[in-house]
Amino acid sequence: MAMNNPLNKKFSDLAGTMKPSAIRMLLRVTESPDIISFGGGLPNPESFPLEELKEIFEEQLKINGKKMLQYGATEGLKSLNRALAERMRIKEDIDCLPEEILQTTGSQEALYMLGKIFANPGEYVISEAPTYTGTITALRASNINMIGVPMDDDGIIVDELRKTLKDYPDPRFIYVIPNFQNPTGITMSYERRRELLEIASERGIIIIEDDPYGNLRFEGSKIPSIKSMDRDGSVVYLSTFSKVLAPGFRLGYVIATKDIVEKLNLAKQAVDLASSTISEYIAEGYVTKGYMDRQIPKIISLYRHKRDMMIESFEEYFPGDVEYTRPKGGMFTWVTKKGANTDKLFQKAMEMKVAYVVGSAFYFDESNHESMRLNFTYSTDEDIVEGVKRLAEVFRRYT
Ligand SMILES: Cc1ncc(COP(=O)(O)O)c(C=O)c1O
Repeated sequence: MAMNNPLNKKFSDLAGTMKPSAIRMLLRVTESPDIISFGGGLPNPESFPLEELKEIFEEQLKINGKKMLQYGATEGLKSLNRALAERMRIKEDIDCLPEEILQTTGSQEALYMLGKIFANPGEYVISEAPTYTGTITALRASNINMIGVPMDDDGIIVDELRKTLKDYPDPRFIYVIPNFQNPTGITMSYERRRELLEIASERGIIIIEDDPYGNLRFEGSKIPSIKSMDRDGSVVYLSTFSKVLAPGFRLGYVIATKDIVEKLNLAKQAVDLASSTISEYIAEGYVTKGYMDRQIPKIISLYRHKRDMMIESFEEYFPGDVEYTRPKGGMFTWVTKKGANTDKLFQKAMEMKVAYVVGSAFYFDESNHESMRLNFTYSTDEDIVEGVKRLAEVFRRYT
């Protein structure tokens, strides 16, 4: 009797609305070794500093072993927060106290907790459209809606933002990824950053600036972060060790005013008590011993080369009507063919043994079907060329 089956009542309404992340699903499908996958957002394992980590691990274990294996403070290891505050001042022109930093279990946890502390279920936030699919997943898990604002080559279009704010005047925050955005690879111009901050400050709206890729600039000059222009504490800045050390550490950090950090601290106590102390001690060694500063240029040169391989392959093999972004850093490019349906093409691409992430995964309302996200950092050089050839064939045959 299905009606009385207790399993029918097992899950909450919210659990019923949860969907698996498109990317997690895709990673499973594309694990097969004969598929060339541009799908995942994986750093290249060649960029992992194995020797340095071995040295730091041994040293930290010897000096701090007992503390490193114990539960840590919710806000994170003090010496790591101090080192990051110092680094932020020198490298990012962000003035913050160690108490204004909170370590998180990857930025992903920060995104989830920011939804919890700033929005009630059913309320909405504003983001770029497209935006990072993990943020969509994190906010959806708290029943928070996202209103997307279109982008152009300079990032979020602020006139469109103003229009959106007429219809949606009270967003709980505005979420943006200004550097080498995931998924488009686009970088927000300085003027747009300034205007965005002005619009948000005037209306008392919080900006969440998510910056996992800012350190990975291949060319051009650095554009100041929105946080560095923030005078009234309305910007919450997120970053992570995932792309400049390794995602296995699951270590990210939030920089915000003390009252926001305190609320996040309470939320984190409910989620996981504290981040991994092992990760924090190793990350502290990585930053303070100067290894991070030495590693970043190596990662940049590896990824710049791979970006070039991919763009050159596009130029050579893609049909003329396929458009793509030319990211100046980061890990992704965004490919668009007007009139195509990349959700439908995916099956054909899999038959040709090449994978991507469908564009619709990066829209809260899954509205765009003409684009796809390609990762250029993970595949070998040969696979980049071969994978692009196969995708070109998919476009030619099926669109
Ligand atoms: C824009 C953006 N934010 C957050 C994350 C989450 O990173 P992590 O949880 O590994 O720190 C990612 C990962 O790809 C990302 O691209």
